[in-house]
Formats: sequence, structure tokens, C-alpha cells
Amino acid sequence: MRVLVTGGSGYIGSHTVYELIRDGHQVFILDNLSTGNKEGAHKDAILYKGDQQDSELLDKIFKENNIDTVIHCSAKLIVPESVEKPITYFENNVHGVAILLEAMKRHNVKNIVFSSTAAVYGEPKNIPIMEDDYKEPINPYGASKLSCEWLIKAAANAHGMNYVIFRYFNVAGADASGEIGQSTKGRKLTHLIPVVIEAALGLRDKMSIFGDDYDTKDGTCVRDYIHVTDLAKAHVLGAKHTFKNKSGTFNLGSKNGYSVKEIVSETERVLGIKVPHDIVKRRDGDPSTLVASNDKAAKILGFKIENNLEKIIKSDYEWRRNKKF
Ligand SMILES: NC(=O)c1ccc[n+]([C@@H]2O[C@H](COP(=O)([O-])OP(=O)(O)OC[C@H]3O[C@@H](n4cnc5c(N)ncnc54)[C@H](O)[C@@H]3O)[C@@H](O)[C@H]2O)c1
Repeated sequence: MRVLVTGGSGYIGSHTVYELIRDGHQVFILDNLSTGNKEGAHKDAILYKGDQQDSELLDKIFKENNIDTVIHCSAKLIVPESVEKPITYFENNVHGVAILLEAMKRHNVKNIVFSSTAAVYGEPKNIPIMEDDYKEPINPYGASKLSCEWLIKAAANAHGMNYVIFRYFNVAGADASGEIGQSTKGRKLTHLIPVVIEAALGLRDKMSIFGDDYDTKDGTCVRDYIHVTDLAKAHVLGAKHTFKNKSGTFNLGSKNGYSVKEIVSETERVLGIKVPHDIVKRRDGDPSTLVASNDKAAKILGFKIENNLEKIIKSDYEWRRNKKF
């Protein structure tokens, strides 16, 4: 395949690029490097620095490279920021998809894989969450991603395109090569596992557990964690699915729910290091439990989880100890 990965210098995009290249595909990256890193772009991929809303640049990329598939990972994704700047989020995420789809239509590019999120479900009614469950996002970020999903499905229907939509849960870990991992370009980390690892490494005084009075096994929030390499491999399978003129929407969970306290104790066990932490009050908008299976992706795409929680913790720890960027 000849694949354009938008956001291919970011965390998930860069791991997806690595897996595409390992699987023998030609890869092109479009990234404005707003949160991504130049160093995250694989040396065998061609990086175009620019914005997903730049139609002329999209025309150039599609014309020069005979792209057949787009994996769309570029987005703004910080929930509290989306509450402060909802218009910016819809402009970047939803208008960005509209411009991309329009360019794909102009150049007869038929296949798109889209990075969506568990945030489209809001506070779920059933656990594990199923793809057809009710969707009621509780923040502008989730709402913008659900709007993108609707737009992609409608455009696919109207213009004969194929789509795969992946709804991710909590993504963590780093590539086994040590070349790439999650980097935040000087911004503060917000995802739990990197924060716990930073506390274990002494890169922060302690980590805070937000609330221990939820209706869960130990009172702390329960989440489903997936290794970024497993997720990246899912994208290769998703792209191949669209290549066969097929479409679908898939949850990429692991079926296992871990509480925040369990993540702390498992990190201490795996690394043999104490994780300094305290318990503070709840944050707004954190659902108590988010867990999903990958049964549909396993059955239809042949997806499988290869890395468990221990591998997630170890690989993130190794990355953060020897971070390249
Ligand atoms: N990280 C997670 O746990 C998680 C969970 C659910 C969904 N997602 C989705 O995964 C995707 C990738 O997230 P990530 O964690 O890799 O974030 P990231 O910030 O590391 O990557 C996003 C990339 O997109 C680029 N980008 C942003 N706006 C752009 C624009 N207008 N034009 C060109 N490039 C632009 C950034 O520079 C960055 O390289 C996003 O679509 C996000 O909604 C992530």
C-alpha cells in the first residue's frame, strides 16, 4: 500500500508508521509538528511539514505520491483544553476531516482509517462497551471525534469510499526499538501510565490519584490499557480491510479493567520501585469505568493483543529512562 499518515510524527501515528514500514508499505507523513516531533518520523518515510487543512499541500502529496490509503491520526486531543476552546477543537478536528475527505475525493483516494476514541461513548451504560452502544460524549473533544465519525461514514456512503474507524481506550507503552515513544514536547503529561512511570523515576515528586470514592473494586477509576504497538498493528490490519473494499467500526480494548491503584501497585511490582502518590479529590468528567473488548476486531480483522500490562509498563519505563526526544 502507499499510505499517507496524518499526525505520523505524533505518538500513535509514529508507531503506526513504524509498523507499516515493517510490513513493507510506502509511507508518507503529513504533520504540522504542533505536538509531534520531527525525530518521531521514521527515516524511511517522507515527511511533509504542514497542516491537514492546507488543501494545496494535500493536492501536492496526493498528486506526487499516488497514495491509495489515508490513516488519519492528526487531531487536538486534550480534554480540558477542548472545554476551554471548543471552537478550535471543532475547527481543527471536524473541519480538518472535511478538507481531507474533499481532497481524497478530488484524487480518487478511496480508503481511510480514522483514530477515534472511547470518549465518544461518554459515561457508558454497559461494561464492556460494545460498538453499537449509546454515544453521548461529555466533552467537546469526544463530540468533535464523534462528528468526524459521522462525516466519514456519510462521505464514504456518498462517494464510494471505504473506512475503518478505531475507538481507542487508554494507549500506553513504547516501540521495542527504543527509537520512539510518547513525548510531550515540554507539555505536562496527563495520561496515567507515563505519569506513574515519571513518579517511579523521580521525575516528579509524586503522582495524584483523583478520587477513591468511585463505585469500583477499590474506589479508584477503572480503565482498559492497550500497548501502542498492538494498536499500531491494528491500523495496518484496518488499512488492509479498506483495501479489500470493506468498512467497519471497531473498539480496541483489551477486555481487562485495571483500577488506578492497581496500576500503581503493578508498576511497583514490575519495576521494583516505589511510586510516591497521594489521593486528591475527583476531577470533573472522569467516568468511573471504561472497559471494552476487541472481539469484533479479532473476528473481522484478525487483531490480537500481544503485549500485556507488564510489557506496557516496562516499555514505557525503558523509553522514559533513555528518551530520544
Ligand atoms: N493517546 C491516546 O490515549 C488516545 C486515545 C484515544 C484517541 N486518540 C486519538 O489518536 C490520535 C493521535 O493521538 P496521539 O496520542 O498520537 O497524539 P499526538 O499529539 O502525539 O499526535 C497528534 C499529531 O497530530 C499532529 N497535528 C495536530 N493537528 C494537526 C494539524 N491541524 N495538521 C497537521 N498535523 C496536526 C500533531 O503535531 C501530532 O504529531 C488522535 O486523533 C486522538 O484523538 C488518542
